[in-house]
Amino acid sequence: MDRDQFQAKYGILGESIEIREIVDIIQQVAPTDLTVLITGESGVGKEVIAKAIHQASLRAEKPMISVNAGAIPEGIIESELFGHEKGAFTGAGETRKGYFELADHGTIFLDEIGELPIGTQVKFLRILENGEYMRVGSATPRKVDVRVIAATNKNLEAEVNQGEFRSDLFFRLRSINIGIPPLRERRDDIPVFIDRFARQVAEKNKITFAGFTPEAIDLLKSYRWPGNVRELRNVVESMLVIERGKRIDAAEVRKYVRELHEDGRHLPVYSPKPSEQAERELIYRALLEMKSDIMDIKSILERNGHTGPGGSGIVEARVDTDNQAVGEQFIPLDEMEKRMIIQALDRFNGNRRLAAEGLNISERTLYRKIKQYGLE
Ligand SMILES: Nc1ncnc2c1ncn2[C@@H]1O[C@H](COP(=O)(O)OP(=O)(O)OP(=O)(O)O)[C@@H](O)[C@H]1O
Ligand SMILES: [Mg+2]
Repeated sequence: MDRDQFQAKYGILGESIEIREIVDIIQQVAPTDLTVLITGESGVGKEVIAKAIHQASLRAEKPMISVNAGAIPEGIIESELFGHEKGAFTGAGETRKGYFELADHGTIFLDEIGELPIGTQVKFLRILENGEYMRVGSATPRKVDVRVIAATNKNLEAEVNQGEFRSDLFFRLRSINIGIPPLRERRDDIPVFIDRFARQVAEKNKITFAGFTPEAIDLLKSYRWPGNVRELRNVVESMLVIERGKRIDAAEVRKYVRELHEDGRHLPVYSPKPSEQAERELIYRALLEMKSDIMDIKSILERNGHTGPGGSGIVEARVDTDNQAVGEQFIPLDEMEKRMIIQALDRFNGNRRLAAEGLNISERTLYRKIKQYGLE
């Protein structure tokens, strides 16, 4: 199969040298059992590549199990990955198979590998080395035959330097590393994506596709696409759907790509919008700063002997006085945080990953807070 046929068969768009090189590597590694690490910013197509590797492998008939390490609370991650024995911990009423066991003879796609807790990393390394693992609550090693594809948008080397990621695991993983460059570094792919996405949307929504002017394409090619291919796809979708049947010109592009607005007015929106995310990040950071200011004030008061056993009433009394000074507008921080989370979830139609991204917190933190505030 030549490269073009391979790309068509596995749905990998792109004509840039970068994508071609990636496809060549995929064609070579797919039929092997080698562990592959896919890196790149959010929305560059890591999952597209992972699926292609699995589907072009000898394991294609078996399942590929996708696990997002960032979305599983730390406390249960090992039992999720490796399974547990009945009675291994409170609540472990039945023996449970882990994802590795479920993926036996197939492929496991471990997304956001950088979020794997350091204690779990050593167990993961053992699986990579000899397929051995133990269920939580068992001392009997078990074996699986699983092909691992891992992905991350973090710089694992920096994580290693900060002691967040084990260097032995890092070296093991990076032996085959497919780095997908951001869209702004392979602009030749942009027209290809625009054309394909536009035709798909037009067909799906029964819209006549009247094309793009060369100026529109140039403008789309020049934008920096912080959300990469996902963002481009969303912009194309919004333009086609809202401008129904109209030929898209530079003026339309400016309307839908926020950062390209000449007058900065808020015009039709698409999801997710990086600039709105940025706004939300600012608000969230401001909240965190307020919170840490309050903590500072509290600790100063405590150091000055206003608290201690039986003495905490003084601090609280003072805080109460302050509250009254601000009057009705004062909203407790946790309430504020809860509202922001509800708003973010709402904004992203319950998509926790995007909501977490928007709030600039990890998915795991968001998961925990959703539980904490009873938002499930
Ligand atoms: N080369 C490509 N060919 C076809 N579609 C692509 C390609 N790259 C990205 N896409 C599309 O862009 C969107 C994002 O891709 P994907 O989910 O694979 O990104 P990701 O790198 O896994 O993102 P994240 O880090 O946020 O999980 C999807 O809709 C996907 O279909
Ligand atoms: Mg992904």
